[in-house]
Amino acid sequence: MILILDLGSNDNSALARMIRGLGVYSEIKAHDITQEELEKLENVKGIILNGGPLNVVDGKEIQVAEHIYRAGIPVLAVNVPNAQGSEKLDCWPQAEEEKKDFLKNFLFQTCGAEANWNMKNFIEDQVELIRRQVGDKKVLLALSGGVDSSVVAALLIKAIGKQLVCVHVNHGLMRKGESESVIDVFQNQMDANLVYVDAGERFLSKLAGVADPEQKRKIIGAEFIRVFEEEARKLEGIEFLAQGTIYPDIVESGTKTAKVVKSHHNVGGLPEDMNFKLVEPLYYLFKDEVRACGLELGLPYEMVFRQPFPGPGLGVRCLGAITKERLEAVREADAILREEFAKAGLDKKVWQYFTVVPDFKSVGVKDHARCFEYPVILRAVNTVDAMTATVEQLDWPILMKITDRILNEVKNVNRVCYDLSPKPCATIEWE
Ligand code: XMP
Repeated sequence: MILILDLGSNDNSALARMIRGLGVYSEIKAHDITQEELEKLENVKGIILNGGPLNVVDGKEIQVAEHIYRAGIPVLAVNVPNAQGSEKLDCWPQAEEEKKDFLKNFLFQTCGAEANWNMKNFIEDQVELIRRQVGDKKVLLALSGGVDSSVVAALLIKAIGKQLVCVHVNHGLMRKGESESVIDVFQNQMDANLVYVDAGERFLSKLAGVADPEQKRKIIGAEFIRVFEEEARKLEGIEFLAQGTIYPDIVESGTKTAKVVKSHHNVGGLPEDMNFKLVEPLYYLFKDEVRACGLELGLPYEMVFRQPFPGPGLGVRCLGAITKERLEAVREADAILREEFAKAGLDKKVWQYFTVVPDFKSVGVKDHARCFEYPVILRAVNTVDAMTATVEQLDWPILMKITDRILNEVKNVNRVCYDLSPKPCATIEWE
């Protein structure tokens, strides 16, 4: 592997991705790695000191520890002006292809690395590691049907089959067909040990009359943990909990120079007395690698390339206090939007697209009579990191087709609007 030491770069992940893209495994570590920690890492063929503007910690400029240079491993210093006796680059002014050529030379000539990082090898290694870690014990997984938990499930099924117990909690706020597809793929096709919990009514009764979005989120999160915990306590002999933690969660949780520290919280919140040991087989994968791993494991394309979907689901798209009537409207309208986007190939182009139903009505005319019904708002946005977003400039015919279908097929709806607001000022979701 190639070790990247974060000496203040604001984009260590891009470098790691580029190296992995060249077939060489790469990890990012903090600048103050100790000699013992370095010696414990297996097969380090090269070290890249990755400097940049975040190189001051506690008022002092980061220094490279002497032992790094003495480790007998080739060192490349990028943007580290005071680096000693190693290969140096003062910046990356080059175009992408030139960067790649430079890196290739460092990896394969200077370090003698081998290009053997691919998903087939990763899966083989993980299957072996999981079997060694778990032995004949059982592993529990909260399987939402999202990309990460689905890939973890597929990997664990390959490694330990029925020793994995997947629990799918349907909180009643899933999109149309979503829980059915989890059951179809994991129970019917992969023959997994799947516990399906239909908790829709339970969630809806907890949410009855609650209009505040943050309160709704808290109720959904807390109830999810309660249901999952109840199911876990019914099962005997579980020693491990599998989580879909992925590498960006770890990197974002803070190498020591990171300015924005975001704690990762994939499952979290389970009572400590349950005392599970963790299995996190995707710990070192970037998102695109997780998808590649999912495809290699035979998961359907739609599952692996699923658009982001918030944990509280349609609960934050049925605005204000949730009612069954409006929840059904938002679910049916969303299904139409997704179907039409898929037909037009927009599902592969647009980052996130969904419908929203607000908690007010407007006047309309149906069958020559006045009606008073809900509007559906369409939203389709593109973004890289969800911090800012632009609106997809949809063609008129597809907007009209979707509008037509929603007005004809979805009950209690008499108006369709397209949200033209970028983020900022708006957010992606309406709540
Ligand atoms: P906003 O609305 O903040 O959304 O622009 C940014 C991204 O985050 C998703 N989102 C959530 N995801 N739990 C989640 O797991 C939530 O409560 C939540 N709220 C927003 C949103 O769908 C978008 O992709």
